Amino acid sequence: MTRIVARIVSRIKSEITTGRVNVARYCMPKINSIPDSQLSLIHPFTSSDKPQPANSNTNFLMDLVLGAANDAREIDLVDVSARIRQGPKWPNIWPGEHYKLLAALVKRMRPNLVVEIGTFLGVSSLVMKKYIPRDGRVVTFDVIPWQSFEDTCFQQSDFDDPGLVQVLGDLAQPNVFEAHRELMASADIIFLDGPKNRSFERAFLQQLMNVNFYKASLLVIDDIRLWNMLDLWREIELPKLDVTSFGHYSGTGLVLLAPHQASI
Ligand SMILES: C[S@@+](CC[C@H](N)C(=O)[O-])C[C@H]1O[C@@H](n2cnc3c(N)ncnc32)[C@H](O)[C@@H]1O
Repeated sequence: MTRIVARIVSRIKSEITTGRVNVARYCMPKINSIPDSQLSLIHPFTSSDKPQPANSNTNFLMDLVLGAANDAREIDLVDVSARIRQGPKWPNIWPGEHYKLLAALVKRMRPNLVVEIGTFLGVSSLVMKKYIPRDGRVVTFDVIPWQSFEDTCFQQSDFDDPGLVQVLGDLAQPNVFEAHRELMASADIIFLDGPKNRSFERAFLQQLMNVNFYKASLLVIDDIRLWNMLDLWREIELPKLDVTSFGHYSGTGLVLLAPHQASI
C-alpha cells in the first residue's frame, strides 16, 4: 500500500515539474486490458457548442476526407515502414494510425507546400514527401535536429532533395513565428503534431489564426481526442471535422483555414 501511494506521489511530482498534472487520471479506474489507454471525454451537444452549418465549407471537408479515405486504401507505405528500426510499422497500420490518410491528403490535394510541426523520427515527413508533387516541398519544424534521434528514419540523402527541409525553431515564440509568417501564409497543408503540452498549441494557433493566407489551407491536427487537446479542438471556430475513424486513434481533426477561399 505504502509503495502504491509512493508511486502515485512520485508520478504527480513528476507531472508537477513538467507542468502537466492530469488529476482525472488518478480518479478514474484503469482499464487493465488496454495498457496504454488514456482518458478522453464524450458529451452531448451543449448550448456552448457552435453547430457546424451544412455549407460549402463543411461539404469541402467531407468530400476531401471521404475521397482521401478511399485513396488511403490503395496507399502503399511499405518503403517508409521499412525504415522504422524498432517498434510497430506504424505507416502500415490503417485505420488506427494516420499515415495513410496523411499520404492520401497530399496525393489528393497536390500541395506546393506542406508545413509540419513536429519532425521526430521523420515518419510523417517521409510519407507526405512521397506524394508531394515534383516541385512541392515539405518543411518540417522541430526544436530538436533530426540527427539527434538515434532511431531516425531519415537518411542524409533525403535532405539533398529540395523537397524536404527541416527548420529548427519554436513557433510558439512570436519572433520565430514572425520569421516564418510568409511560409505559413503560403502553406497548402499544415500538419500540427508537436508537443501537445497545450501551451505550445495554444500559442501557435493564436498566431496562425492571424495569418492572411494566400489561399484556402488545410490544418491537420493530431491527437485532438487527448485530454490535453480537447478544449483546444473544441474552441476552434473555423470549419472543422473530426476524422478520427480515418486517421489517428488518438484523434485527427481537419480545419479549413481561410474558408472563404476554399473550392473543390
Ligand atoms: C509526436 S512527435 C512528431 C511525430 C511525427 N510528426 C511523426 O508522425 O512521425 C512530436 C515532436 O514535436 C517536437 N516538438 C516539441 N516541442 C516543439 C516545438 N515547440 N516546436 C516544434 N516541434 C516541437 C518534439 O521534439 C517531437 O519530435
